[in-house]
Amino acid sequence: MNVRFRMAGPDDAVAVAGLHADSWQRHYRGAYADAFLDGEPDGFLTGRWTERLANPSPGARTIVAEYGGELVGLSHVEIGADATWGALLDNLHVQSGLKRQGVGTQLLALTAQAVQDAAPASGLYLWVLEQNVGAQKFYSARGGENVERSTVPPPGGEPARLIGTPACYRFSWPDPSVLT
Ligand SMILES: CC(C)(COP(=O)(O)OP(=O)(O)OC[C@H]1O[C@@H](n2cnc3c(N)ncnc32)[C@H](O)[C@@H]1OP(=O)(O)O)[C@@H](O)C(=O)NCCC(=O)NCCS
Repeated sequence: MNVRFRMAGPDDAVAVAGLHADSWQRHYRGAYADAFLDGEPDGFLTGRWTERLANPSPGARTIVAEYGGELVGLSHVEIGADATWGALLDNLHVQSGLKRQGVGTQLLALTAQAVQDAAPASGLYLWVLEQNVGAQKFYSARGGENVERSTVPPPGGEPARLIGTPACYRFSWPDPSVLT
């Protein structure tokens, strides 16, 4: 597969948000409320990505994957997010039809490299929904350690966007060089 990877820019906001929203709709149902998933995620995420890509924080790195002229993957990390755990991989999504073909592994490797380039001693961590067993298997296969269980913060701080109090796990790579 001839997949191209590059840093995202402000012009990618709408496509990134579209891929992100589609992935939420497929994988976050049961944790995120149907009313939110069926109506709002495109607008909510377009706002978030427009701001993020137009005014990135100093530690932000967003990488996208393209295939056949289409955006098929995204990763977003915030370097220096946590004094203990290091850089936060806040988002990692691959287009549904292209899963299990190595795109996620390459996005994770490029993200780890970006963290190492900017902060060589930093760890890498993320939060994954308890129900998202496929992603947990992916992170375990890539050497991530499940170190903690917590509750999911509601998107945009709105509790009605969640169903009850879903749980999530922290996965950690104290040394992200294992990913590169
Ligand atoms: C999780 C995700 C990013 C992984 O990316 P991907 O491109 O599908 O993964 P890869 O092809 O690089 O997977 C490599 C290996 O990880 C493991 N793996 C990946 N997905 C898996 C799954 N659903 N179940 C079990 N193992 C899995 C396998 O060992 C796989 O190797 P194999 O296919 O040879 O068995 C992708 O599936 C995705 O976007 N999922 C939906 C969104 C999501 O859950 N994002 C994470 C939010 S925290």
